[in-house]
Order: sequence, then C-alpha cells, then structure tokens
Amino acid sequence: MTFTPTKTLADKVRADFPILHQEVNGKPLVYLDNAATSQKPLLVLNTLRDYYEQYNANVHRGAHTLSAKATDAYEAARDKVAKFINAASRQEIIYTRNASEAINLVAYSWGMNNLQAGDEIILSVMEHHSNIVPWQLVAQKTGAVLKFVELTPEGSFDLSQFQQLISDKTKLVSTCHVSNTLGCINPVGEITNIAHRYGAKVLIDACQSVPHMPVDVQEINCDWLVASGHKMCAPTGIGFLYGKLELLESMPPFFGGGEMIADVYLDHSTYAELPHKFEAGTPAIAEAIALGAAIDYLSNIGMERIHAYEAELTAYLFQKLQEVPQIQVYGPKPNAQGEGRAALAAFTAADVHPNDLSTLLDQEGVAIRSGHHCTQPLHRYLDLPGTARVSLSFYNTREEIDIFIKALKETLEFFAGFME
Ligand SMILES: Cc1ncc(COP(=O)(O)O)c(C=O)c1O
Repeated sequence: MTFTPTKTLADKVRADFPILHQEVNGKPLVYLDNAATSQKPLLVLNTLRDYYEQYNANVHRGAHTLSAKATDAYEAARDKVAKFINAASRQEIIYTRNASEAINLVAYSWGMNNLQAGDEIILSVMEHHSNIVPWQLVAQKTGAVLKFVELTPEGSFDLSQFQQLISDKTKLVSTCHVSNTLGCINPVGEITNIAHRYGAKVLIDACQSVPHMPVDVQEINCDWLVASGHKMCAPTGIGFLYGKLELLESMPPFFGGGEMIADVYLDHSTYAELPHKFEAGTPAIAEAIALGAAIDYLSNIGMERIHAYEAELTAYLFQKLQEVPQIQVYGPKPNAQGEGRAALAAFTAADVHPNDLSTLLDQEGVAIRSGHHCTQPLHRYLDLPGTARVSLSFYNTREEIDIFIKALKETLEFFAGFME
C-alpha cells in the first residue's frame, strides 16, 4: 500500500495564483509579506480582464446595455461585501479606495462634526498610522483629546487599562481587530460593549482580520468597520467602509461631485440615498467587481477553513522560530493549535538591522517586510528602530516556512561570522 499524504489547503489553491510560480533571484519565490498585500487568484485577474474586454462602461449613468451590465456587477459586488461581513443592509457598505480612505471618511464626516474641545478619542499604541493620523487631524481641529491603550506584558491590547481610560468624555474608540505588527487579536466585541456603555462610538480597523477569519459586524456590534481589498485577494484601489445605517444617514457627505447627488442647483444640492451619498465621482468599477470575485473565491474555500489552516501554519512557524534563539518575536504566543494570534511574526535579531535581514532573505527568494510597518508609535513604545516581519496566507506551505527558517539561520550565521 502506498502512502499518499493528505493535500493541504495550500496544495489545493496554489495553482490559482500564477505569481507564486516564479523564481526571484534565481530561487523559487517564497512570498511571506501577505500582511502588506495579498496575491490575487486567477478568478480576480480574469474578472478584471472580462470587465475591460466585455463590458467596460460607467456605472449608474448610461441607459445602454454595457452600462447596465457594469452597474449590475458593481452593485452585486456590494451585496457580496455586505453578506461577507454580515451587514444588515447593502446600504451600509460604502466603497472606498482603501481602509485609510474609509477611516478618513469617518474622521472628516463624523469626527469633524461631532467632536468638540475636551471630548476624548481612545486609540491604542499598536494602531497603524491610518488609524492615528486622521484622528490627530480631527483632534487638532476640534480640540478633542487622544488617549492610548497600552500593551499587556505579553504584547496584547490591555483591556483593564482601557477600562480605566474610558469615561463619559470618551466619544470614540477606534482600534484594530488584529495588529499588523504584534499579531494579537483584540477582543473587539468586548471593547465595543464597554464603549457603548459610555455612549462612545466604535470603529474597527479590520484590515488584518477580514482576509483571515470570519468577521461578523452584527456580532461585534461596532458602529463602523473598515478593510482594504488588496489584503484580501482583490486588486489595489478598492476597500470599504461598513457603518450602521442610521449613523451613516446622520453623517454629511465627505466628497462632493457626480454620483453622490439627488439634485444640484447653483446655490445648493441635495444628496443621493445611501450608499451613493459617500461615493462621489466615477468609482473603481473593475476593482469593486473584482473585490466581489475575491469574496466569492474566499467564501468558496470558507473563512473558517482558511482560519484553521492558517492557525496550523502559525503553530508550525512558531515551533520553527524556536530553532533560532538569536531572535525575539513580539506579541502574544500562539497555543499548541496556533490559535490566539494571527499568522504573522514581527521579530528582531540582536546586532542585525531588519533591513539587512530582509535584503539577504530576498537573495534567497524569500520576501519578508522590514521597517516600522506603518506602526512607528508602536515601535517607539517598544523602543525598537524597526522589526522584520513574516506574514502568512492560506496559500503558504510548511515547506516555505522551512525555506524561510533555513535562510534566516544562514543569514544570522553570516552576520555572526562578520562580527567575530
Ligand atoms: C491594521 C492595518 N490598518 C490599516 C492599514 C492601511 O491599509 P491601506 O494602506 O490599504 O489603506 C493596514 C495596511 O497595512 C493595516 O495593516
């Protein structure tokens, strides 16, 4: 009897990702920078191509067949986003260019109009710059004050410190679901519950959770949630804002222009119904339709299955990282099943700059990220100039982790030899 190893999820899907099958610097590509951006399956690439080859036309405007087809596909993709995150209504999904634009939309439309001097905004020290800078701009303009949740000793969101920070002055809590540097998974349902008790609104930055696990906005009960398409197998240039219907209805438009109006007079305008009120100008039509295709692709695999497979990879990654005692990994440790944190690891190695690490790993075909990962305040908090970061997706394999670990060991040995 011959033994046939069971096929992993990655074995089944890798053929769908043409970019993975190439050599970089003469070595097979090992792409481990998925937290920065994910790769795109053929379904998404073909969807983009089909749009431009078969029904390229503007949406919501023309009465002709191509325009109707483009509009239908564009709006069908919105239904897919709504279903994917379990929004109560399709009107609660606003297309944006990315998560950053979605946060800015809330900051300018809601923040500038609802915050005043002395009001408090609670963020955490682990936030991506996209979830800090817009609130700094709002605070400068309105006189609102920013407060920051710090980390537990293991490198997670400090819920008890959060409970001490929050008060009747708190008007907004905005935090990530999963940290792109620490990999911790924040208790967003609990955070939302606590914030609502004080009458504060809650925004969840779901950039690093939506591509990797089931996310249910009604279960979290957050007021807004944002994500970027390019991190979830869709193209760049498309993301979305989810907002509770009544709240979005109460918010004024952020951008003015075509598409977002009901009637325009020389001296004033009335606005379109949701979601169009927030979508001025010709949108990223192909990209939105391709986001729908990416969601079809992910849903077809199943987010539970993706999460379970990535947890297995996380357990393996952390087991292998233990073979490299020279490095320090940040954020909480996973349990034996790989649960309890995301499938990424930011780390430092004494005496080796993260940029040198990633440059040398690139020579081996291994793509990892180095630097501050747009979390400079977190790196300052941890007193680090930068970290190297390996981040996994469901198309990565154990063999790729082995190649990464081997290259990492060799690189560190090379530097150690250099130091002698
Ligand atoms: C947690 C988190 N928030 C926000 C962003 C910003 O995403 P984008 O640049 O697509 O707007 C990122 C991107 O790395 C992220 O990881």
